[in-house]
Amino acid sequence: MSDVTITLTVNGRAHTVTTATHKTLLYLLRDDLHLYGAKDGCREGECGACTVLLDGQAVNACLVLAGQADGRAVITIEGLATDGRLHPLQRTFVQAGAVQCGFCTPGLILSAVALLAQHPRPDDAQIRHALTGNLCRCTGYTQIIEAVKQAAADMAAEAATEVATEVGT
Ligand code: FES
Ligand code: FES
Repeated sequence: MSDVTITLTVNGRAHTVTTATHKTLLYLLRDDLHLYGAKDGCREGECGACTVLLDGQAVNACLVLAGQADGRAVITIEGLATDGRLHPLQRTFVQAGAVQCGFCTPGLILSAVALLAQHPRPDDAQIRHALTGNLCRCTGYTQIIEAVKQAAADMAAEAATEVATEVGT
């Protein structure tokens, strides 16, 4: 088996990794970078448990070869909290009871991050559509939809507060 050397940014940190040509981004993250947030549920693009952001787009890391991530920026669930503060989606998933076993949670949250970047105030249909590829066996999805809506509201409120603070200074 041949190897490939790639340079990529993961959660804001640059890495140069030499790894097997056939390895997927999912296993580059898990084996080489020891980031276990992206989960291996099916390895065939069906469950969404391995979802990460690749240059801001939600992708199934099990379907991306490590070499395809060369020169690109990856965000995993480990990279969402800033300065010890959970991302609003991480907070609302906990508050809404949208996490049970948690296996699906990193993927769902990253799909929701991509959605909110494009549609800051999504309606239920847009949320359902964005999360179609993320399966959850535990929660029944209702709390997940509520968590995304609450995070959107919280993020809008935070943005409004920041604008008001800037205008006031
Ligand atoms: Fe990638 Fe299931 S492990 S979609
Ligand atoms: Fe268990 Fe979603 S919380 S699969």
